[in-house]
Amino acid sequence: MKVRILGTAAGGGAPQWNCACELCRGARAGDLPSRTQDCLAISGTGQEWYLLNASPDIRSQLLATPELAPGPGRRDTPLRGVLLATAELDHVLGLVMLREGSGLSVWAPSAVLAALATGFGIKGVLDPYGSWAWHEVAAGKAFTLDGGRLTVTAVPIGAKRPRYAAGVEQPGPWVVAYRIEDTVTGGVLLYAPCVASWPDGLDALIAGADCVLLDGTFSSAEEMTGATGRPASATGQAKMGHLPIGGQDGSLAALRRHPGIRRLYTHLNNTNPVLDPASAERAAVEDGGAEIPADGTLLEL
Ligand code: MLT
Ligand code: MN
Ligand code: ZN
Repeated sequence: MKVRILGTAAGGGAPQWNCACELCRGARAGDLPSRTQDCLAISGTGQEWYLLNASPDIRSQLLATPELAPGPGRRDTPLRGVLLATAELDHVLGLVMLREGSGLSVWAPSAVLAALATGFGIKGVLDPYGSWAWHEVAAGKAFTLDGGRLTVTAVPIGAKRPRYAAGVEQPGPWVVAYRIEDTVTGGVLLYAPCVASWPDGLDALIAGADCVLLDGTFSSAEEMTGATGRPASATGQAKMGHLPIGGQDGSLAALRRHPGIRRLYTHLNNTNPVLDPASAERAAVEDGGAEIPADGTLLEL
């Protein structure tokens, strides 16, 4: 299986348009790498490709990815569809940019589909542009892609719904992780870009994978308080809903339990010190055996 990491930033990207923090200044100046918003492209055969989430940066991400170039026919595209892990705007806005394609499929949990039909209405906006196929993914029920080569399972991982979907009446899960297995190579990818707390069962899933791409939004629980007043992970209405990397109960401590697995962080917020290769937080991630990949990184599993 080929996995092209199209984007590695959380909502807003890095730099974020309205942020003058040190890290965003560094990215603007070219001293730190710019990062587009979290999105992956996967394929078993290399002939058919599927996106994991559809970021608002999808146009530039597709243009930067040779495997996703159109052809040989004038409107042929290797892109077959999109699997959504959440209904957050940074994971779904790219669907609008894909409206020129005809016949794309979208797979998502029922709550995410409901949010797209009512809370946001993007489904009704898109349907007149082409024959979109909307598929509900049921938790734990495997389905196949790429002519049967890839087996996909959605694993419920959280109840965090987008702010725009506060009134959508639909039971969760609102957030899933995707486990994708290449039936030819046996390679297994686990993609979990939104993790509010470490759920039971996540260790077993990681242990059974070759590579995990995990929520790396924040390094610490206090990171956002200066910027928005909403802490990263404290309890209460205003929480951001992302388990920090650092600290005793952070995700890095958990990832340290899996030294044999390739571990990468994605969905990195522009406030996260790990964006700076010279930071202590980045050194801690690397000491823990995890990676901060650049946009465009290719994995082969
Ligand atoms: C998140 O990951 O928590 C959301 O994308 C936040 C947002 O709406 O930008
Ligand atoms: Mn997000
Ligand atoms: Zn910033």
